[in-house]
Amino acid sequence: MTRVLSPKSITAARTASAASLHTSAVARAKSTPPSASAARPAKPAATPLSSLLLPSFKGSNSSSSSTSPTRRAASHTAMPTTTSPYSVPRTSAQISEEVSEAVAGKENVQRLQRLQRDFRSDTFTMPTDAQLLVSLRASRGDDVYHEDPSTAALEERIAKMTGKEAALFGASGTMTNQLVIRTHMKQPPHSVITDHRAHVHMLEAGGIAMFSQATTHGITPANGIHLTAEDIEPALQLGTNIHIAPTKLVCLENTLSGIIFPQEEVVRIGELVHKNDIQLHLDGARMWNVAAAEIERRGLNPGDEGVRTAVLTELLAPFDSASLCLSKGIGAPIGSAIVGTKEFIERARWFRKMFGGGVRQSGGVAASADYALTHHFPRLAGTHVLARRLAAGLESVGCGIVAPVDTSMVFFDPTPLGLTIGEICDALAALPNPINLNANRVVLHHQTSPEAVDDFIAEVERLAALVPAEKRAAGAAAGVGASATVKLGY
Ligand SMILES: Cc1ncc(COP(=O)(O)O)c(C=O)c1O
Repeated sequence: MTRVLSPKSITAARTASAASLHTSAVARAKSTPPSASAARPAKPAATPLSSLLLPSFKGSNSSSSSTSPTRRAASHTAMPTTTSPYSVPRTSAQISEEVSEAVAGKENVQRLQRLQRDFRSDTFTMPTDAQLLVSLRASRGDDVYHEDPSTAALEERIAKMTGKEAALFGASGTMTNQLVIRTHMKQPPHSVITDHRAHVHMLEAGGIAMFSQATTHGITPANGIHLTAEDIEPALQLGTNIHIAPTKLVCLENTLSGIIFPQEEVVRIGELVHKNDIQLHLDGARMWNVAAAEIERRGLNPGDEGVRTAVLTELLAPFDSASLCLSKGIGAPIGSAIVGTKEFIERARWFRKMFGGGVRQSGGVAASADYALTHHFPRLAGTHVLARRLAAGLESVGCGIVAPVDTSMVFFDPTPLGLTIGEICDALAALPNPINLNANRVVLHHQTSPEAVDDFIAEVERLAALVPAEKRAAGAAAGVGASATVKLGY
């Protein structure tokens, strides 16, 4: 389904959107140290948006050859080197103290211990006691009748934070993506362009065909990492050929496999599609990670709502709509939000009802998601630090790292050590304090512990030392990317 990138091709193809956008804005937008609680201010901080805007986001200066491999700096070596207190990962003890036996019961306390060592997905998180206590106090009105203040407050906050007119709470990322696509589409024949690996295309059970009666054109990025305007332009169907369903929507995904989509390329794609009267949607299931990385790179304070607002507003400006998962890395128990114009969201609300997604007393889950935005979002910087620590450790013991480690995912290949992914998963599972992994995609979240990361690296090192010389030589000769079990993608 997906092709593996060799480290060489990563370095060649990878964009350093960060590097190209990193300007004196850092100096202009000074980071405020986190306040004692890092809690959400009663009102969004009055950080003037314009003072945080980067020059490349302000204008339409996108004529640069952003597809040129030579412009793309090294990948994992170009990671931010922030010293923000938020980027210091929490210890296992700090993570554990947020779920107490008195409130949550012994079984949940034990489950949280296991989650700290579960690298299968960033959906394996646990709501904390404080998060669920907030739910207890949330309003209990009927949101289908628009009578639930906690849900309305969350929607208003997310709309404001993303610079869009309105937001709508939904049950899951799949539901909100499909709702958005259905809302954009009017009448067949019509089609959608996505990356060939996109979740909306590959992993939403054929929802686009089912709900929107649309054809999907999944495109393979020429650079192996992300789509460019040059990939998309020839694929646009502008309604001049009756054999082909016209393109009405382009969907991008950010992050895709944990990799950040270069913003300057997003801007170029936005200009291309809008010029052709086509809409642009973002599957931003992990857009919080993108924003957290951007905030970290600029040396700003992720606990400041004004900073979050400025950065997310910039990142989402090219999009007509976006779907933002709340239940991935930031750990809301359920939920995803869509953003767009008021008119668009009103129409989406109609389809949400039709999909059976109107939730009555949704205040509790909305409040819990709101808590996650305030208290867990700032922790993503620490999660990203841990992901880089894991990648560096695995690389130093001889594994290949097959995709840029921009955020919370590490795709690795143990072939050069003479090991397989299956052998590593089995060994991790057999540890006295087991680690859960089921593929070469390793995903971290705000409750992943540094101890788990260190144990992971130590176990791979231990296994590698046991590999017979001949087997290791064969693995080294085969090289990174040789094994069919090593994938870049889900
Ligand atoms: C990129 C992306 N989009 C959408 C979704 C769907 O989210 P959900 O599982 O909440 O339906 C996922 C789930 O992992 C995802 O990774």
